[in-house]
Amino acid sequence: MSYTNVCAESDIAVGELAKYKVDGESIVVYHLADGFYATQKSCPHTFGPLDRGKIIDGNKIQCPLHRAEFDIKSGEAVKWANFPPGIQLLNALRKQKCLKTFPVKVENGQVTVDISDVRLANAS
Ligand code: FES
Repeated sequence: MSYTNVCAESDIAVGELAKYKVDGESIVVYHLADGFYATQKSCPHTFGPLDRGKIIDGNKIQCPLHRAEFDIKSGEAVKWANFPPGIQLLNALRKQKCLKTFPVKVENGQVTVDISDVRLANAS
């Protein structure tokens, strides 16, 4: 376990998120009402930028491309994306996947993430 400093606690307001690169891994850090969380930055559907997504219901991230929704804390896909008619064959190819999540600790006002400790909620 090795935690890396990512940002100051005050850098991300409650209800906001920010992207960072840690040891080559692009991540999103979220400041929710009960603390900080981190997930991979790319949506596992077709790589949408989750840092440009929307936090909904205080605990889910909605991808800006096809609106898949993921539980920020567990990474679980709570709503998967559907391609529109005409390219629906792609749905069979892009099967539901969860987000990688990473443990976060806040110490002395610093947000730290352990990028080596990948967690997968519902790996397939
Ligand atoms: S890329 Fe995220 S839902 Fe399609």
